[in-house]
Formats: sequence, structure tokens, C-alpha cells
Amino acid sequence: MDEVTIGMIGAGTVGGGVYRALKRNGGLLASRAGIRVRLKKIAVKAFDEPRKVAVPESLMTLDWREVVEDPEVQIVVELAGGTTTARQMVLTALRLGKPVVTANKALLSAHGEELFAAAGEHGTNLYYEASVGGGIPIIKSLRDGLIGNRIDCIYGIVNGTCNYILWRMKEEGAEFHQALKEAQRLGYAEAEPSLDVDGHDSLHKIGILASLAYGFWVRPKEICREGIRSVSLADVRFADQLGYTIKLLGVAKRLAGRGVPGEPKTIQAAVYPALVPNHHVLANVADSFNAILVCGDVVGDTLFYGRGAGQDPTASAVLSDIADAARDLKHESPNRVPPFVPHERNGRVAPAAECVSRYYVRLEVLDRPGVLGRVATILGNLGIGISSVIQPGDCPGKTVPLILMMHKAPFAAMAEALEAVGRLEAVKRKPVMYRVELCD
Ligand code: HSE
Repeated sequence: MDEVTIGMIGAGTVGGGVYRALKRNGGLLASRAGIRVRLKKIAVKAFDEPRKVAVPESLMTLDWREVVEDPEVQIVVELAGGTTTARQMVLTALRLGKPVVTANKALLSAHGEELFAAAGEHGTNLYYEASVGGGIPIIKSLRDGLIGNRIDCIYGIVNGTCNYILWRMKEEGAEFHQALKEAQRLGYAEAEPSLDVDGHDSLHKIGILASLAYGFWVRPKEICREGIRSVSLADVRFADQLGYTIKLLGVAKRLAGRGVPGEPKTIQAAVYPALVPNHHVLANVADSFNAILVCGDVVGDTLFYGRGAGQDPTASAVLSDIADAARDLKHESPNRVPPFVPHERNGRVAPAAECVSRYYVRLEVLDRPGVLGRVATILGNLGIGISSVIQPGDCPGKTVPLILMMHKAPFAAMAEALEAVGRLEAVKRKPVMYRVELCD
């Protein structure tokens, strides 16, 4: 049987998982792929770091170059994380003509175009199944399984930490900071949780999915981002009373252009907490699971569900990439499926202001006659219709919440309306607003 030699950089959570999975299922992988995978070296930060999975010291080196530049190493598996040294590691390997497998979404988000170009220039490839959705084979599905579809939209719960926090808020009646503490205790959230809770990680992932779906590279700065820090238990409860669940969604949608040559394609690419109807499958994604809904014009709706993070799920995706890279090497077609095919030269990401959706708004207002009328007038003057109103509580002269559900409106109009509403004397706090999705 043919053999391929790989080298790994990083023996942390994911690296340990890959080592263990290779040991456990290496034989199976070899019989399925027709190639045996030999792990020759692993670059680590320190020999004696505490590790959940023990890795033999005989495989370790402290110098990543020893892995990348070893002439016997044919595939480099980058699991170090970060974007600075990792960029150097990946570029060095690609320039040596070696295929690279990576799980590093932050790296792809920041430097994807440069890395893909380097892979093409040096006749090699970059594999990144583990970068989105952990163990869910979403990259392969978008590139291969759905290759015959125009993608109408993608709605993804792509950050397990945020899903856990929002789920716990709803299930346990916890405030954000309590749910975050629990997520940290369970090891879902970092001590410094910004990457997850402020939506950066979801942005990296939806950027990668949007780029694959729409055929032009979507840059991080073009993606509108809101995290979940400001989601309050009050809104989780009001949303539930109205029949909705708040989820952090990565959204990529085709707004205009059906891919006809010459017609520019405009998409929305965003991350924000949104209300999803309770009966929708995405509202019922519990715990730290991920789920990605992809709607294709031929296939209709497809749903990908599973563990989006963690040692073993991520290792599963890395192994799949190692097998692909090994097969491509064996067949001497390292660029068989290039890492990214820019098939849409006219693509454009719409600014948030242009994007249209429904909205949930919570105001804190003085309970007195005429307030709702004033609010409705401001909204009406900007062409925004109200679909329902609830005022839980009856406290004349006191401040009460007023919940409004809006018909579809452009974000710019909604933002302008809320500015004006917020200036009304009877409105006591900055209005809270969330988009409402998946109810058509
Ligand atoms: N921290 C991420 C999550 C996993 O919570 O889903 C890595 O992208």
C-alpha cells in the first residue's frame, strides 16, 4: 500500500485529537483511502506542557521549521492557531509545494486570498474542512455536494459557545453573565471570551461559507457583526412569549443577481443575534451544537448539524482533509479541487443599511396615552409597518416595556426611526432592536 508522511504543528486540543484519532482509525482510513498515513513529527511549544492526550516525546520538536522543511514530510497539518506565525508556517509549506491542512478560520479570514494564491502558484493545495462547523462536513458539501446549485441563503449557528449561552439563558432563565460563567466552567468559553461572544469567530466562519457559496472572496471588514453581550434575559423572555428564540446567526444571502454573466451579484454577509420562530429547526439547536441551513435553488433546504468544536469533532474534519490531501498526492493532482474558485467576478457585499428584514423592538416608555401613537407615526413616516404590539404590564405613569414587531424594512430606515424614537421624552432608554429571521 502507498504511504504518505505527514508532519503536524501543534499538539494542543485539536492536535492531540488528531494524534489519537489517527492511532485509533489510521488502519480504517488506510483501507478506505488506499494510502497509509505516517505521522513523522509534531512541532510543540514545550515538551512538558500538560496535555489531555499524551504524545510521544520522540515525535516532538520545538521548531516548526523542522516539520515544514523536512524533505520526508509531504503534508503539513497546521493546528497551531493564531494568524502571524501560522501565516508564515502555511506560506513556507506552500512555497515548498507541500499541501497544508488547517483548522484555522482566523488565518483564512485574514489571509485567505494570499494563501490560496500561494497554493495555486506553487501547484499545491490548502484544505480547511475543520475551519467551519468542527466535525460537520460543510466545506465539502458546499464545494462538492451542492456544486450544481445557486445558493439562495445560508443561515448558520456556527459558534457553539454563543449557542450554549443563549440556550442556557432561555432554558434556565440565566442572565448573560451567569450563562457565560457556566460556559467558562465547562471549557466552552475562554477566560477572555470576546472572540466568541462578540461574534468574531462566527464572522470568520460565515465569511468562508459566503465566499464558497457566492464565488468571490468576502473580506472580514465587509461583514456586519454584532455579538451577544447585550442580549438580556428580558428579551429572551419576551421573544419566547411571542413564539421566538434568540440565536446568534451567521447569515449569507443572495440579494440580487442570479449569476447571469454581466449582472452583478449582491449578497448580504452578516453575524447578528436574531429571533427565529420556535417551530423552526434552528431555534431548537440546543447546548453547544452547531447547525447550518443551506438553501440551494435546485436542492431546496438542506441542514447540517453536529458538534462545531471540540477535540474529536475537529479531529474528524482534519482526518478527512488529510485523506483528501493524501489521495490528491497519490494521483498527482494536488490542485484537483483548488482551495477556492473565484467564479463570480462581479460580486459585491451590500452595506448593512441596504439589507432588509423584519424586526423586534423593545422600548422602555412611560405608560401614558399617546406614546404608542407617537412611536407609530415616526415608524409610519419612514414607511415601516408594525405587525404586532405587546405591553406586558399596566402601570399608568410608570416606565413599562413596549414590544413592537415590525414588517420588513431596510436597516437604514429602521436605524433612523429608532434614533428618532429614542429622542422622544416618553422613551426612557435606548431602544433595543433585533432582526427577525426565517419566518417567511
Ligand atoms: N469557539 C468556537 C465555538 C469553536 O465556540 O464554536 C472554534 O471555532
